Amino acid sequence: MTTSRIPRFYNLPLEERLDDLAAAAGLTPEELAPFQTGGLLPGQADHMVENAAGTFNLPLGIGLNFVVNGREVLVPMSIEEPSVIAGASFMAKLARAGGGFTATTSEPHMIGQMQVLDTANVEAARLALLEHKTELLAAADEIDPLLKKFGGGARDLEVRLIANSPIGPFLVVHLLYDVRDAMGANAVNTACERLAPRIEAITGGRVHLRILSNLADRRLARVRCTIPVQELAFDEFSGERVRDGIIEAWAFAAADPYRAATHNKGIMNGVDAVVIATGNDWRAIEAGAHAYAARNGRYTSLSTWGKDAAGDLVGTLEMPMAVGIVGGATKVHSGAKAALKLMGVKTAAELAEIIVSVGLAQNLAALRALATEGIQRGHMSLHARQVAIAAGATGEMIEQVAARMVAEKTVRIDLAEELVKSFASDYGKGFPADFMEERNQRSVQNREKILVGK
Ligand code: MEV
Repeated sequence: MTTSRIPRFYNLPLEERLDDLAAAAGLTPEELAPFQTGGLLPGQADHMVENAAGTFNLPLGIGLNFVVNGREVLVPMSIEEPSVIAGASFMAKLARAGGGFTATTSEPHMIGQMQVLDTANVEAARLALLEHKTELLAAADEIDPLLKKFGGGARDLEVRLIANSPIGPFLVVHLLYDVRDAMGANAVNTACERLAPRIEAITGGRVHLRILSNLADRRLARVRCTIPVQELAFDEFSGERVRDGIIEAWAFAAADPYRAATHNKGIMNGVDAVVIATGNDWRAIEAGAHAYAARNGRYTSLSTWGKDAAGDLVGTLEMPMAVGIVGGATKVHSGAKAALKLMGVKTAAELAEIIVSVGLAQNLAALRALATEGIQRGHMSLHARQVAIAAGATGEMIEQVAARMVAEKTVRIDLAEELVKSFASDYGKGFPADFMEERNQRSVQNREKILVGK
């Protein structure tokens, strides 16, 4: 039985966290060992890309407190940016009080595009293609017997007329392909390439591009959550004030593309972190997300925030989610395999549902901070640690240099370097003992507050 609540996880030494994580997920620490080695050997990288010279690591942290469709889930998140994992974990705790996240997916239909040029008459060619739809679909369905065995295959064929283009009108054939648990790019691209000669024969035209579309709007993931209004209260902010501030912040993104880009970037902080941790193609997810956000001709927010009859905060998110759990890096990368195991996902749809939940949680974390105390306060202590490391601090000195910068409300590399220098020359005498004791206690309490919502 998995639990996504691991109190005081943050305070454990790094080496002990894996044991607690494995215990909470009902796994052995060995099954999660790739998290601590990076999961990809240079020899494997050599088979994945050209001119491989090694591998490149990112931090991998755990999103705590998530309940998705009634199931506790510990979420692996790979990201270099501080505050994202803490923010998502804290918001998942608030959502948990309202029953967690409720998520669904559409059928996993990807779109393959074939650009048909040089037809004598675009309208006649369009109708000819539709007359042959059954035959074309049957042919496309035979192309990937393995996918067909698992329940996938060709589902529909649509013909679009692009009336205005720099080269004049042309046709585009959309092949809708059910890719089940795969990301689907290979299956769809193969199907388009194989189908092209038949399309040329039917239309008398020339099939130019044959490639999937990353605007995967037939493969959507949707999620909603309700946050009881009293859960939103903190410090001097009432729950109602925080709720209304979040709704006002969302309205800004809904109405203004400049704000929507940043708002959606916050969503993608959560989405991409899980997409990367599971070895999926985050460029495809990014492309799909932003194209979907502009689907009505004006770029807008991917999420919505409002209130229900009880006055509780209600959030929703809907976006394309072309992720797989079979094939590609998801099967080669032992870190990605461990990530899927940790979440206990059995289908790509389940993975998609978790990913949008994290996206919505992350969006809420950003809006809550922006609508109240501002983003810098939460960012500052983690950012300060990165700056301290960049300035050369090691071991205990990292916390001490960071704490001093936060206390001075100035997080800058020149100050960090100065502090590192003064520590190195005068270690131990840099701060009065009572100052350090009080600082350390406060930072432990703050982290607990953020991570386990105490
Ligand atoms: C920073 O990575 C993400 C935010 O800018 C998102 C937002 O503004 O909503 C904080």
